[in-house]
Amino acid sequence: MEVVILPGAHQIGVLAADAIEALVRRKPHAVLGLATGSSPLPIYDELARRHEAEGLDFSQAQGFSLDEYVGLEPGHPESYREVIRREFTDRVNIAPENVHGPNGAAPDLEAACQEYEDAIKAAGGVDLQILGVGTDGHIGFNEPGSSLASRTRIKTLIEQTRKDNARFFDSIDDVPHHVVTQGLGTIMDARHVLLVATGAQKAQAVRDFVEGPVAAICAASVLQLHPHATILVDEAAASSLKLADYYRHTYDNKPEWQGL
Ligand code: F6R
Repeated sequence: MEVVILPGAHQIGVLAADAIEALVRRKPHAVLGLATGSSPLPIYDELARRHEAEGLDFSQAQGFSLDEYVGLEPGHPESYREVIRREFTDRVNIAPENVHGPNGAAPDLEAACQEYEDAIKAAGGVDLQILGVGTDGHIGFNEPGSSLASRTRIKTLIEQTRKDNARFFDSIDDVPHHVVTQGLGTIMDARHVLLVATGAQKAQAVRDFVEGPVAAICAASVLQLHPHATILVDEAAASSLKLADYYRHTYDNKPEWQGL
């Protein structure tokens, strides 16, 4: 696990976009794992800017979302399918048919979850997975207690997550209780995971998953077992890390050829 501490969200967006740009230039048909929420927005803004200003090409790329609410009507502006379309894929030239998400409106959710796993596999697996982290340490919507080997399935949100996400809805009563999410095992299959955390409200979760024990109570801690996990944090999110100085020193002295 590599921890990179940067001054703020803009620098995080630029560095993450560098890694994604390098990937799509090396492998034009790259498979990108897409997260919603606030954390990845600076990445999407920077990729959209590079597409617009520099012609960064996503025409052969594919995207797979991490998760989706259950019970929102199709086309609901806060459904993750819509959010991903609005915040990222409509702003670059990924073909709409190459953008996939778990189907939270399927009559048979279990079958839909299996189909989603199959679709990721058929695409060749995720090359680079963008992640945020919840204040309770969730990634995707794998809430505390999720099996570290879990696959795409239905989960129930804990109240804190519903409160955290209420800002996107008119009222907390509108935040669904259920979601479908890639499992921790699904996320761990991605070749590179790039997690972004910003703000003091993430400091405890970052400390827990980076430096605490690997345990289902903090789902993101499973990333300690990933062979290529990059954690991009701002100063506030890094403020509780014990080894912050070591992470800074390591990154400052990293040979440039290594990339992220
Ligand atoms: C979103 C997702 C969640 C968020 C997490 C952090 O697709 O899977 O795990 O990444 O809830 O959300 P923000 O970035 O809004 O703080």
